[in-house]
Amino acid sequence: MGGRRGARHGRRWVGASTLLVLTAVVLSSFVSIAGGASMSQKRLAIRRHLKHLNKPAVKSIQSPDGDIIDCVHLHHQPAFDHPFLKNQTIQMRPAFFPEGMYEETRAKASSSQRVSIAQPWHLNGRCPENTIPIRRTRRDDLLRASSVKRYGKKKHRSIPKPTSADPDLVNESGHQHAIAYVEGDKYYGAKATINVWNPKIQQVNEFSLSQLWILGGSFGEDLNSIEAGWQVSPDLYGDNNTRLFTYWTSDAYQATGCYNLLCSGFIQVNGEIAMGASILPISSYHGSQYDISILVWKDPQEGNWWMQFGSDYVLGYWPSFLFSYLAESASMVEWGGEVVNSEPNGEHTATQMGSGRFPEEGFGRASYFRNVQVVDESNNLRAPKGVGTFTEQSNCYDVQSGYNGDWGSYFYFGGPGKSANCH
Ligand SMILES: *[C@@H]1O[C@H](CO)[C@@H](O)[C@H](O)[C@H]1NC(C)=O
Ligand SMILES: *[C@@H]1O[C@H](CO)[C@@H](O)[C@H](O)[C@H]1NC(C)=O
Ligand SMILES: *[C@@H]1O[C@H](CO)[C@@H](O)[C@H](O)[C@H]1NC(C)=O
Repeated sequence: MGGRRGARHGRRWVGASTLLVLTAVVLSSFVSIAGGASMSQKRLAIRRHLKHLNKPAVKSIQSPDGDIIDCVHLHHQPAFDHPFLKNQTIQMRPAFFPEGMYEETRAKASSSQRVSIAQPWHLNGRCPENTIPIRRTRRDDLLRASSVKRYGKKKHRSIPKPTSADPDLVNESGHQHAIAYVEGDKYYGAKATINVWNPKIQQVNEFSLSQLWILGGSFGEDLNSIEAGWQVSPDLYGDNNTRLFTYWTSDAYQATGCYNLLCSGFIQVNGEIAMGASILPISSYHGSQYDISILVWKDPQEGNWWMQFGSDYVLGYWPSFLFSYLAESASMVEWGGEVVNSEPNGEHTATQMGSGRFPEEGFGRASYFRNVQVVDESNNLRAPKGVGTFTEQSNCYDVQSGYNGDWGSYFYFGGPGKSANCH
């Protein structure tokens, strides 16, 4: 454009044309200098951010899956970058667990041959006492992010809002869900046992996850959310492994919060489980099934939101002061799957949710959540009342809930994405 206009003017005024050429030369060299500066600025920003995220390690463990796990002293973890937390003592245990966990643990112990979920880095070592394992963030991780600042943060508006399935919103955000949910009460926690799979991701900027959401506030700019589950996210981790993750935000994914320990917030007390690290084993179609249980609850004495993984690992807590609504209680709980569809022109992605199969296929084929529970005002774990289900496009990903003696409240969910019925 600029070149053509310059030539046209140049035919009239030779002097002006020379000036234009000169201007163009000066401009282009200015642009290339600016380009160079922004490149080295980005490099500098990356180096700074890596230094900020990766705290000095007491010991580092190379995981067979390519990760490096840094064992960082409890008091040097990212949470303590927060000015509010600087001088706080770490709570090493919750004051209270929810009631009703004991019976379940006992029932589990009596059931035969249960394989426990492990993280591959355990094969090459363990973290010393008073340290916690943190997955090291690498240069490549930051280079994949849209900006250094956005690394480890979800994009705005990825939360399923069951009561108003606005198709425009569905298409705009590209996020799709198949979930079960409860609302209309005060909730103080949630629990679920989640089937573990390794869904296929079509594009590197898409993801597929299975998680629970503990939500506070309406779906406005100040939505509070605590989330935990497993995810496959090539963008965040650089591979297609199934990984344990957490997330939190107190302003609808805008300025606050992040995945795992990628910002100041969550305080980890557990030395055995690394958030963001892979989990094994994975269930196979028509074969062995594996699941993880996750419990998140609000300690009635201190007000902090704690997380337990499996029946043995108390991972840590989100301090109450991080939140507005959740400082009191949650108003909604959701469980289920989410994928990102980034195919252009109204095409549908072939990224799978759950096992990549529809709920109708049932156990061993479709992915499940079982023993879905909430924590009530009296700190009791109980089956949720009035469970609803929601999906934007049931021909792509679907959900079916049920109740029985063994599994309590449960549901099957997921699907293949693009198919004969979904495009
Ligand atoms: C934390 O404690 C140190 C000394 O113990 C003190 O100098 C500092 O002001 C305190 N910081 C805050 C934010 O309270
Ligand atoms: C999304 O947009 C496409 C076209 O852009 C349309 O065909 C499709 O029906 C929309 N999906 C929903 C759920 O409204
Ligand atoms: C992840 O899977 C996609 C296809 O499903 C593949 O194109 C990509 O190379 C895989 N990425 C890695 C790091 O293995």
